[in-house]
Amino acid sequence: MAVEAPLEPETVGAGKSSALPTPEKKHEYVRAMFDAIAPRYDLLNSVLSARMHHQWRRVAASEACLAPGGTALDVCTGTGDLAFELARRVGKAGAVIGSDFSAPMLSLGEKKRSKSRSETSSVRFALADTQSLPFPSSTFDAVTVGFGIRNVADIPLGLREMARVTRPGGRVVLLEFNQPQNPLFAALYRSYSFHLLPFFGGLVSGRRAAYEYLPSSVAAFYSREALSALLQDAGLRDIRITELAFGAVVVHSGVKPLTSGDADIRPTEAGNGNRA
Ligand SMILES: C[S@@+](CC[C@H](N)C(=O)[O-])C[C@H]1O[C@@H](n2cnc3c(N)ncnc32)[C@H](O)[C@@H]1O
Repeated sequence: MAVEAPLEPETVGAGKSSALPTPEKKHEYVRAMFDAIAPRYDLLNSVLSARMHHQWRRVAASEACLAPGGTALDVCTGTGDLAFELARRVGKAGAVIGSDFSAPMLSLGEKKRSKSRSETSSVRFALADTQSLPFPSSTFDAVTVGFGIRNVADIPLGLREMARVTRPGGRVVLLEFNQPQNPLFAALYRSYSFHLLPFFGGLVSGRRAAYEYLPSSVAAFYSREALSALLQDAGLRDIRITELAFGAVVVHSGVKPLTSGDADIRPTEAGNGNRA
């Protein structure tokens, strides 16, 4: 059952950060927010991204480098779209779990799954906190997160958990919003995300504060380089960065080493990578 979101969070700072909860309140604030906006989440994703989010998920799923019969975990899965994309890659012989701490988001994913006749029908959902995953170490070929890691209260802990449950040689993939680096596009993006997005998001969901939280949380999020460093701190290597939507969306991926070794950070072929 949806819990009423505390839509007037205790705030930190001013300006761009004013829609953010304090770090102590973030965990519960985020959960209540997604419980509350779950019924309109998929619709707003499509409207606010002009349906581009499907393409972004396909890029992230490719970075997971899964083979038919493989295993994957998608944390902060929400209504399961990235988990479904992974399931298409591993096929019916594989196994994909989508985990999230919002029961209303998961139950919408479960509804989509039960209507599916394709390989996506094999996705299983689990109610779980990304900061304390209920899976043994070194379990999955790939562990992914789509637009979720920014929302986790303790992001380094969430990344360490993702790395822990990845098997040696497996991959961790993050799909997340970030700041565009082109100054002109950055200005356009700021205007869209701080004005139009809260307006439409509020209109459709009735929860404007949730769509004010979104751009504020992106503005307060780690840079590409800082996120790469966190992935390395979590024990991952071969960090790759792929930019999408003029850099407003970024895919980070890293490999859990077979044995411990030196980090090797390299840009993608598109030449958009950053060196941490
Ligand atoms: C923006 S949604 C992304 C959903 C989905 N991955 C997608 O790509 O559409 C963020 C999700 O992260 C979940 N979340 C945030 N913090 C979490 C945590 N600590 N543990 C589990 N799920 C979490 C929320 O419940 C929400 O479903």
